[in-house]
Amino acid sequence: MFRIIEKKEMAQGTVFQLKVDAPLIARKASPGQFVIVRVNETGERIPLTMAGTDPLAGTITLIFQVVGKTTALMGTLKEGAYLTDVVGPLGRPTHIENLGTVICVGGGTGIAVLYPITRAYREIGNQVITIIGARTKDLLILEEEMRAVSNELIITTDDGSYGRRGFVTDVLRQLLTGPNNIKLVITMGPVPMMKAVSALSREYGVRSLVSLNSIMVDGTGMCGACRVTVAGRTKFTCVDGPEFDGLEVDYDELMKRQKAYISEEKASLDSFTAGKQRGR
Ligand SMILES: Cc1cc2nc3c(=O)[nH]c(=O)nc-3n(C[C@H](O)[C@H](O)[C@H](O)COP(=O)(O)OP(=O)(O)OC[C@H]3O[C@@H](n4cnc5c(N)ncnc54)[C@H](O)[C@@H]3O)c2cc1C
Ligand code: FES
Repeated sequence: MFRIIEKKEMAQGTVFQLKVDAPLIARKASPGQFVIVRVNETGERIPLTMAGTDPLAGTITLIFQVVGKTTALMGTLKEGAYLTDVVGPLGRPTHIENLGTVICVGGGTGIAVLYPITRAYREIGNQVITIIGARTKDLLILEEEMRAVSNELIITTDDGSYGRRGFVTDVLRQLLTGPNNIKLVITMGPVPMMKAVSALSREYGVRSLVSLNSIMVDGTGMCGACRVTVAGRTKFTCVDGPEFDGLEVDYDELMKRQKAYISEEKASLDSFTAGKQRGR
């Protein structure tokens, strides 16, 4: 059992941050790794990236967006409550290199996944330009944290309610066109955004790194749920990733596989919401 030490609401009741007591994981984890969480005995297993770790305090930080039944249930848990299982650290740590200038692009809760990686790239001596985007101001997360680990932070909102109006790719194109000598574009967020960012990187001949959010079950390479195609070869996101060369990923297949259980997921969320309304 893993105790929730602290809970913070980050955006309109749809994005939460939990600090969880998990000393063994906190001691071993590196940027880019994730855990698989089971909220209760009968719950499904969901992967969540560690947005931060504190080895001395023995805690890990998870940031999640409410998108379905399990994340909705997690959103109702209070400080002092327990998660039944937290397994990790899983996945390969990010390969951190001193390259010169890198651009980090984050969208939605992908910003939480990007945060520890941005910090690690800056700490090793890179010049880091970060672009973060959200549909609207109230959904933007981790602005101050991202500013603190970037040389420059640019914000976009689709509706223009904060920062520059438009998509992260509009700003990325300007930066790639300019005299910045960009060596790498790192991107995390919704799959269509990662696909668009990688296409732009290709256009300008710049390397791209993405963190994939395929559906996972065991997280240890046994079940095949997280299968993706990278450079024409089958890979498992949980053990071969979650990060891959963004120019080589088959994004259309990934999007199709993410929708495989959409009707079951909807039914599960509907039944959870109806139960909550009846006070169960
Ligand atoms: C390596 C990795 C790291 C992730 N890190 C984060 C994070 O830090 N913060 C965050 O908000 N989200 C993260 N995700 C996505 C998160 O796991 C899903 O949002 C969550 O599983 C949804 O569960 P649900 O029951 O609430 O929604 P559901 O209704 O079950 O699903 C909603 C959508 O979430 C995706 N999904 C569903 N089940 C899974 C699953 N078992 N594994 C992966 N995706 C699933 C599908 O695209 C689905 O259509 C990560 C995913 C991966 C693979
Ligand atoms: S989650 Fe089962 S193989 Fe990756």
